Order: sequence, then C-alpha cells, then structure tokens
Amino acid sequence: MGWAIWITGLPGSGKTTLARAVALALAARGIPVKVLELDQIRKVVTPRPAYTDAEREIVYRALAYMAKLLTEAGVPVLIDATAHRRAWRQLARGLIPAFAEVQLLCPIEVCRAREQGRRSQYAPPGIYARGGEPGATVPGVDVPYEVSLQAELILNTDECDHWTQVQEVLYLVRRLARRVVFHEVRMERRPLCE
Ligand SMILES: Nc1ncnc2c1ncn2[C@@H]1O[C@H](COP(=O)(O)OP(=O)(O)O)[C@@H](O)[C@H]1O
Ligand SMILES: [Mg+2]
Repeated sequence: MGWAIWITGLPGSGKTTLARAVALALAARGIPVKVLELDQIRKVVTPRPAYTDAEREIVYRALAYMAKLLTEAGVPVLIDATAHRRAWRQLARGLIPAFAEVQLLCPIEVCRAREQGRRSQYAPPGIYARGGEPGATVPGVDVPYEVSLQAELILNTDECDHWTQVQEVLYLVRRLARRVVFHEVRMERRPLCE
C-alpha cells in the first residue's frame, strides 16, 4: 500500500512548484512517487474545460479514485489540485488509509501576481483574469475556497522559503510511511475469516 498527500491551495499558491520539488527530492532518496497534476490530467479528461460545478464534481471524484487505485498498487501519490471544495479532499481521505492534506496559504493578491507572471505552458493562462466575469467560477474570486479544517501540514508560502516547505513535506512523508507499515501489519494479523 502507498500513501497519498493532497497539496491544496488557491491558484498561484505554489502547489505545482512544491509537488514537483518534493517528487524530485523523494526520487533522489530512491522513493519514486506519482504526481497527479490536475492541470495535466485535465488536458486529456476535459480538453476544453468549462469549470462548472458538474464538471468539477466528476473530475475531482475521478482524481480521488485514481489516487486510491495507485496507493492500493503500492504507489505513493502527490495530488496537485486546488479542489476548492473541502468535500472533494474529504472523499480522498475516506478512500485512502494513509492520506494527508498539505494546506498552502497565501494572500490572494500574491497568488494573483504570481499567476500573472507564470509561464503559460506551466498551467492554463489568465485564471484570475477570468474572475468576476459573468458565469466565471474562479476559486477565491467567484466561488469560495474552503480551507482544510484538518490539514496535517499548513504552509504559508509567502513567508516560508521553498526548501523549508519541501523539508516539511518530507517529514510528513516519513510519518505517512510509518502509518502504511502499521496498516499493513494490522491487515496481516487480521483473521482470514472475519
Ligand atoms: N514559495 C514561492 N515563492 C515565490 N514564488 C513562488 C513560490 N511558489 C511558487 N512560486 C511561483 O508562483 C507561480 C505559481 O506557482 P505554481 O506552483 O504554478 O502555483 P499553483 O500550482 O498553486 O497554481 C510560479 O511562477 C512559481 O514559480
Ligand atoms: Mg499548478
């Protein structure tokens, strides 16, 4: 069994930057992980995304299920996705025994400025520019972003430097890996005819 960490936060809060750096740091330690980067998954699943409630409901449910399948196959997973509704992260928590949330906090003005300066191949461009338009659903602008109430780790990405953030996630990975071992031992000791 593998573990899963969901890195959540507003667009521009630094999810992808952190997820990629953690994946590289783990690979260097001989721990390959799969990063489920929603911006990449969307290119296949919803190539012309509408960002409606109904579409997001399906996309996030599918994302949680992908993470569950990978962890069941023994693959550790980093989920890089905003998921402005707490319920979507909760769904993954309920599906995956060794699960944790990393909540990125960053003032929206800082996120907006970062997002404007981001290279366009990195993520869909002009996210905040769409905010406020009729029918727009930009998290933090048009629809509320629901901060996690039970995040295992909270990082203020405008205050805490990049390498400290990576180190904090690596500590969390160690804690989760121990939970995986504990879970597996418990499963082994379970009577066959329960
Ligand atoms: N801790 C940070 N401090 C300053 N800039 C950052 C930080 N984290 C990310 N960035 C920059 O901000 C922009 C948005 O980061 P990104 O990781 O793409 O955010 P998200 O995936 O949450 O939308 C990128 O240009 C990135 O280089
Ligand atoms: Mg991103």
